[in-house]
Amino acid sequence: MCGIVGYLGEKNTKEILLDGLKELEYRGYDSAGIAVLQNKTFSNYKAVGKLINLEEKTKDFTTKDFAVGIGHTRWATHGKPTELNAHPHVGENSYVVHNGIIENYVELKRSLEADGVKFLSQTDTEVIVHQFEKNLKIEKTAFEAFSKTISELEGAYAILLVTKSEDATIFFAKHGSPMLVGINQENEKYFASSDTPLIGHAKEVNYFEDGDYGFVSNDEIAIFSKDAKKQKPVFQAISTNRLSAQKDGYRFFMEKEIYEQSDVIADTLLGRLSEDAIHFDELDPAFFDGINEIKLCACGTSYHSALTASYMFERYAKIRCSVEIASEFRYREPLMCKDTLFVVISQSGETADTLETLKMAKKAGLKTLVVCNVDNSSMVRLADACILTRAGIEKGVASTKAFATQVTVFWMLSLYIAKLRDTMTSKKLAHQIFLLRGVPGSVKVTDTMHERIKRLSKRYLHGHGFFFIGRDVFFPLALEGALKLKEISYLHAEGYPSGEMKHGPIALADPELFTIALLPQHLLYEKSKSNVEELSARDSTICAISAIEFDKADDFIQINQCEDYMLEFFQMMVVVQLLSLEISVRLGNDVDMPRNLAKSVTVE
Ligand code: M6R
Repeated sequence: MCGIVGYLGEKNTKEILLDGLKELEYRGYDSAGIAVLQNKTFSNYKAVGKLINLEEKTKDFTTKDFAVGIGHTRWATHGKPTELNAHPHVGENSYVVHNGIIENYVELKRSLEADGVKFLSQTDTEVIVHQFEKNLKIEKTAFEAFSKTISELEGAYAILLVTKSEDATIFFAKHGSPMLVGINQENEKYFASSDTPLIGHAKEVNYFEDGDYGFVSNDEIAIFSKDAKKQKPVFQAISTNRLSAQKDGYRFFMEKEIYEQSDVIADTLLGRLSEDAIHFDELDPAFFDGINEIKLCACGTSYHSALTASYMFERYAKIRCSVEIASEFRYREPLMCKDTLFVVISQSGETADTLETLKMAKKAGLKTLVVCNVDNSSMVRLADACILTRAGIEKGVASTKAFATQVTVFWMLSLYIAKLRDTMTSKKLAHQIFLLRGVPGSVKVTDTMHERIKRLSKRYLHGHGFFFIGRDVFFPLALEGALKLKEISYLHAEGYPSGEMKHGPIALADPELFTIALLPQHLLYEKSKSNVEELSARDSTICAISAIEFDKADDFIQINQCEDYMLEFFQMMVVVQLLSLEISVRLGNDVDMPRNLAKSVTVE
């Protein structure tokens, strides 16, 4: 995901910016850039790929004495990862870096273009610098022009802007994307989108609140709240531990990644939804010509998202769909027909078993598509077509946000194919798109929910096993909940279809068997409820997750009322992730690096 740094002071500005960007590398990015303003002259460098490319480009550029500078690492969302799309973006006399999304950039861009402004990039960010320069021509000061610009933006942002018209100042704004400013005794000012670049440089930091904007100069840190009231900075000591800073205050990467899901799902939806259609610029609609079946193939968590997808493909796009575990598919001499689209799913894009099945499908002449989180990975390079999830780097071995973005992509893809095959009315499609827009909100973790799960977790540390049960898409979610728990708690857990328990596993039921029951209000509620009642009658200890109170359960975790089963799916996904996390914490396990597991499994 994108990262921002900024510096105002007398030290080596170039090195400070590049070092700061290095500290943000772990977030993932595909291009980077810096702009330095010194003696009324701008120097700007950008490079695609790793920071080493930017270092190479700037090797003959030196800075000493006073300067202001801004830098950025970009994870492409609006426009491809090219130099032109990399930040900082330039106007006539100013540069800007930005994290987030400017939702009204199309309208702003149209009006600027009508005024004769020429755009160089495909990004939403570029409108900020042009809008600022337009306002600069009208307003009395650069700060007034900047304030006006911020008031005209809609969306989420962290912004730094530098301009020749005030060449010893950095302008900033924050709304929905993190940013902080740090200071030290040498009167230097450091900006960043998270703590790590500031460690070792700044002694104290001020975390901006949503709506804050203002400017920083040699003499002043001027912060204004969204209602234009001047605020006093609230400085606090900065952490000195880099690893904990990378976790942004969370105890574990897995916890941070669970909390990040709302943002990364929003990124995954970005630019892909309009009122009545799903857009995948990376796909040619003709790619689906002649396709009568979809086969999905993956391992682990990615396999669970594939299973979830199969319900949506058949339900919405009315296309035959089958799902395969990659390690099984490889050796069972499968029959492959040319009218089948072969889809592999992988967070890493490197999992050996999945990669091999992709090679098999290609060899058999099938069209292939990969849904992946890592651009340029082996699978992305090999498949005929690719949809990137935009989860950012996932560090926790137990996958969370990758799964969330995969399911989001599959929901979109099933609707995209539904439109191509004309299997859904436009009214229904528009409603589905409306529901998709609700996903980022549905996965937000509330303190109340997290606290409740923390408290409940102490009752689930023993016993002889867990059954996560659900029907329809809640069956793959049950599998995923059980996998999460196994991986980090080392307790035995299984995911099972609710209706299947009576065909054998119910024999295990006693108070020491823990059933985690997924009870969606909007999908087969009565049927699922009966299955849970059967287990309750046999004294299994039940933890029900539902929007509707359920009195046959020993414990109950309530999700919010919503209007569709998929929104319940996403809410319950967060609950099972947090439950696993908190059980593991209580057992004293290494949450991020559980025993025996690796993040990327490149052996068969
Ligand atoms: O990178 P991939 O999605 O191909 O990885 C597949 C599995 O190895 C992975 O999902 C694994 O099951 C995770 N540890 C699950 O949390």
